[in-house]
Amino acid sequence: MGALAAAAVRIRHDLHTRLLKARARTDELFQLIQEEALYDRPIPERHRIIFYLGHVEAFDWNLLSQRAFGLRSFHATFDRLFSFGIDPVGGGLPEDKPEDWPTRQEIARYNTRIREELDRAIEHALTRPEEGHPHLMQMLHVAIEHRLMHAETLAYMLHRLPANKKICGPEKVAWKAPRAKSRLVEIPAGRATLGIRDSSEQEFGWDNEFAAHEVSVPEFAIDSHNVTNHDFLRFMQGGGYHDRSLWTPEGWAWKTKENIQHPMFWRDEGNLWVLRTMFGEIRLPQEWPVYVTHAEATAYANWLGRKLPTEAQFHRAAYGAPKGNRERRYPWGDEPPSELHGNFDFRSWDPSPVGAHPAGASAFGVYDLVGNGWEWTRTEFAPFPGFTPMPFYPGYSANFFDGKHYVMKGGSPRTAACMLRRSFRNWFQPHYPYVYATFRCVEG
Ligand code: AVJ
Ligand code: FE
Repeated sequence: MGALAAAAVRIRHDLHTRLLKARARTDELFQLIQEEALYDRPIPERHRIIFYLGHVEAFDWNLLSQRAFGLRSFHATFDRLFSFGIDPVGGGLPEDKPEDWPTRQEIARYNTRIREELDRAIEHALTRPEEGHPHLMQMLHVAIEHRLMHAETLAYMLHRLPANKKICGPEKVAWKAPRAKSRLVEIPAGRATLGIRDSSEQEFGWDNEFAAHEVSVPEFAIDSHNVTNHDFLRFMQGGGYHDRSLWTPEGWAWKTKENIQHPMFWRDEGNLWVLRTMFGEIRLPQEWPVYVTHAEATAYANWLGRKLPTEAQFHRAAYGAPKGNRERRYPWGDEPPSELHGNFDFRSWDPSPVGAHPAGASAFGVYDLVGNGWEWTRTEFAPFPGFTPMPFYPGYSANFFDGKHYVMKGGSPRTAACMLRRSFRNWFQPHYPYVYATFRCVEG
C-alpha cells in the first residue's frame, strides 16, 4: 500500500474509533439513570428517556445499513419506532404510557446486534474505498455528531430528573476564576466568514453550514462577558418579568401562559434563590452565566436598550481580529480546543464562573465565546445562500427553516470538541427552556 492510501486508511480507522468513543459517551449517560426512572419523561414535550436508548442506535442503523452496506433490516418495527424524536411545535403534549414502550432488555438486544453488524461492515469498508458508498465517510461523521448531539440533549433531559433518580455523579471541578467585570468591547467594522468551505474525509460540516460566504459587519460593541445570574437577578428585581413592553408578543404570551417568573434552572426558596445543577441544588452562584430562553434573553437586552448579537456579529467578535489579521479558526487562535480554552467537551456537568478561561478569549478580548453555554443570537435559523439538503438526511436542517427557531453559537460544557468548529450552527425555539444557553448583549 502506498503512503497516501495508508494515510487514507488511517483517517478512516480514526472515524471508526470516534464512533466507538461517541457510543461510550451515550452509554455513560444511560448508566447514570436509576433503573426505575428509564421510562420517565423529564421534559414533557419530548419522548420518554427510553426512546433515546433505542434512537441513537436506530439512527445509525437507518442511515447506514441499507444505504452504505446493503444490510437487511432484522427488526423493522424498532427501526421505525426509534427513528425520530419530536420537535414540539404548537400542538399538544405526547400522551403515550410507559407500557407502550419495549423493555430495556429487548432494546439492549436490538442495540447490540446493530453495533455488531455495523462494526463488521465499517471495518470491512474502511480499507476498500473504491467499493463502498461514495458518501460513507460523510455518513460516519453524521452518525458520530448526531450521537454526540444526543449526548448533550440527553444531559438537558437528565438535568430535569430529580437527583435521587440519578446515580451520584463525579466530583465537581474546582474553578479558579478571577472576579470578572463585564465591559462593552468595541468591535471595528470588518468582514466575517460564515459557513464552511469544503467537506472532506477529515472536515465535516452539516448541510446548514454550506455555502461559505463573507458578510460585512458594521462596527458595534459587545459585552466582554456573559450575563451572569447576578446580572439577571437585577433584571428580575427591576420587574423585568412584569413589564410587557420588554417582551416580544410571543415571549409575553409564553411567559404568561406558563406562568414563568424566573429562569427554568432556578428555584425560589422564599428568601433565597437556588440553582438546579446536574446533581443537586446549590445557592445561586452569582458569577455563573445565566441559562435562559431566547425570549428571556431578549427581554433582558431590551431592558438595557441593547440587543442580542446577530450570528454575523458573534462571528466577528469571536473569530475576527484587528485590521491586518486574518480570521481565526477559534476565538483563541488556530490551535485545537483544550482545557485551557474553555468549559466544553464534557469537562463539567455545570458552568464555570464567567471569565475563568482567559486563554480562550478572542482577539478583541471577549471571553467564553466557545464553551460554558451556547449563546443566543437574534438571527433566525435559515439556510445560507447555496444551501442543499444532505441527500441521506434531507430533514436535518430543512425541517426547521420555519421562522420559529433561532441560531445559537459557541457550545456548552456538554458539547463535544468536534462541534466547537466555527461554522457549527445550533438552533432551538425561543421558548424552549431546558438548553444550556446563555447570552450577551450588543450595542449598535
Ligand atoms: C441540532 C440540537 C437542534 O436536538 O433537535 C438530533 C439535533 N437532530 N437528532 C435537536 C438532532 C436530530 C437537534 N439540534
Ligand atoms: Fe436524533
